[in-house]
Amino acid sequence: MRVGLPWFGEVGANGANRRHPGLPGCRVVGIGTAVPGSRVANSEIEAFLDTSDEWIQSRTGIRERRVAEPDLTLLELAARAARAALAAAQLDPASVDTVICSSSSPDATFPSLACRLQAELGCPHGPAFDLQAACSGALYGVALAQSMIQGGLSRTVLVVAAEIFSRVLDWSDRSTAVLFGDGAGAFLIGGSDQKGAEIVALDLGADGDGAWALDTIRYRPPEQTPSGPLPEYAASARALDRVVHMDGREVFRFSTKILEHIVLRLSRAAGIETDAISLFVPHQANSRILATAAGRLGVPFERFACNVDRLGNTSSASIPLALAEAERMGRCHDGELVCLVAFGAGLTWGGAILRWQPTGVVIDDPADLESNQGTGVRQALPAQDHKEVTR
Ligand code: ACO
Repeated sequence: MRVGLPWFGEVGANGANRRHPGLPGCRVVGIGTAVPGSRVANSEIEAFLDTSDEWIQSRTGIRERRVAEPDLTLLELAARAARAALAAAQLDPASVDTVICSSSSPDATFPSLACRLQAELGCPHGPAFDLQAACSGALYGVALAQSMIQGGLSRTVLVVAAEIFSRVLDWSDRSTAVLFGDGAGAFLIGGSDQKGAEIVALDLGADGDGAWALDTIRYRPPEQTPSGPLPEYAASARALDRVVHMDGREVFRFSTKILEHIVLRLSRAAGIETDAISLFVPHQANSRILATAAGRLGVPFERFACNVDRLGNTSSASIPLALAEAERMGRCHDGELVCLVAFGAGLTWGGAILRWQPTGVVIDDPADLESNQGTGVRQALPAQDHKEVTR
């Protein structure tokens, strides 16, 4: 099997991709994730919205999601994921010379989340900026990180995708409110001289003609009284006063097609058959989308990482969250290929093939039963010292 190099040149939806000769792929040197401790089951939403656990599970696979406590800020959630990634890579904030953040649920237009995070972590004064690519944001960040490292602008890039979607939902709109959850994930990207999963191929794309299918609209408080008392997360002000608006069927059509398209393009770029990919870690939109796409690709659904049942759709945070969990479950094997696939509003998409190598992973989950005695931080060390520690 030939290991491809990252793509440069044409990376749009059409046309062949060219490879840039002579540049080895960067490495994912650490992965960190963080979720709020508060779980919200479908039955709790039933109490104030005209929906049912049965409808939500059968259409989306979601059983519960995490929802930020009222005093948890996007910056705090992002910082928890970033610190987890730094611990995973056993790196100091001083070694991070670029910070890139992605959020589709920002709490401010400026200053950027990345600048605030840089100060919060105490990183050096290199570039810090936010990018907006909706659910594809983490992979857009990884691609940018690789470009900056290979272009000599940076050595170690922190890419953080953080979402508090519960604050950009209209909790009276049952077609969107039940789908999303809150969480954050971080990748530390380093050069080919560092240790970690190797980036073998990358792809990015967008089709602005489809922007209408998934966007935000101005929030208008509902005219109808809810069927039960609203929990605090649903009753408080909306971030930036805008809420999610979606044509579900159009998004379903797009998502299933693009997932297949990206996997085939990435396989071509890496010079492999799709069958050589051991694990797919797709954006966790909903399990029906993932199962349909797996069917189109002829890949057994067991090879897809899926945690949407417990976390809902966490937008740009979903890929690092699902990848970290897959690693913790022992599903990432050294030398094997792992394919990350993202798609979202814009419309945007992106993908990466990684050749797995021992990569530190830290999951910060205050609700995790195993970590109840500690601070809620679980740590998985790289495989050379593969014992789990709780601290
Ligand atoms: N509870 C109960 N009923 C609901 C709910 C709900 N939460 N939401 C919608 N309905 C109703 C609708 O009002 C409609 O009723 P009507 O027929 O009386 O008008 C009916 O359910 C629609 O049902 P279906 O046609 O069976 O719905 P469909 O099969 O189209 O599934 C869904 C809807 C799940 C939204 C589907 O279109 C989908 O999966 N789309 C993708 C959306 C998605 O996952 N987006 C995530 C964000 S995008 C991203 O991350 C890229």
